[in-house]
Amino acid sequence: MLDLDVMIDEETIQKRIGEMAEEIDKCYHGESIIAICVLRGAIYFTVDLTKKMKTPIETDFIRVSSYVGTESTGNIIMKLDISENIENRDVLIIEDIIDTGYTLKYLRDYLLTKNPKSLRIAVLADKEERRKVEVPIDFVGFKIPDKFIVGYGFDYDNSYRNLPYIGSMKE
Ligand code: IMP
Ligand code: MG
Repeated sequence: MLDLDVMIDEETIQKRIGEMAEEIDKCYHGESIIAICVLRGAIYFTVDLTKKMKTPIETDFIRVSSYVGTESTGNIIMKLDISENIENRDVLIIEDIIDTGYTLKYLRDYLLTKNPKSLRIAVLADKEERRKVEVPIDFVGFKIPDKFIVGYGFDYDNSYRNLPYIGSMKE
C-alpha cells in the first residue's frame, strides 16, 4: 500500500461535482448531449457527474493511452474508439485530469474531425503548471499542485482507482 496524504476528501469531491453538474446543465439548456467518458480514469467522475445532471445524456466511451509509470510521453495510442455518431451533436468529453494536455489535445482534435455541433471538455482536476500544449477546458473541478495523485479514478499502474478520495503520495 502506498503512503498517502488526503489531498481532496470524498465530501469535497462530491460537493464540487454537484456544482459542476449545475454549471454544465445551465450551459446546455435541456438539449440532449453525448457524454464521452475517457476510460479508464474518468469512470468514477463520469458516473457521479452525470447522475447529478438534469441534461438528457447519451453515454459513450473512448480509451487512449499515453502513460508508462508516472510520466506522460506525448505518444497517444487509440485503444477504443467511440460507437456513436457525433456529427451535429453537442458533445461533452469527460476526463479525469489535464496534465501536459497531450491526451485532451489528441482527443479534441480527433473528435472535431467528426463534425460535432459543439465540443466541450469537463475535467475533474487540472495540473496547470505541467501544461505542454494548450487545450481549451470548459469545466474544471479542482486546480491541483504538481503532485502525483491516486484514488477516485486516478491510478498508479492501474491500482488505487477505487479509493473514494484523492490522495497524493507522501514525499
Ligand atoms: P496528459 O496527457 O499529460 O494531460 O495526461 C492525462 C492523463 O495522464 C490522464 O488521463 C491520467 O490518466 C494521467 N495522469 C496525469 N496525472 C496523473 C496523476 O497524478 N495520477 C494518475 N494519473 C495521472
Ligand atoms: Mg486517463
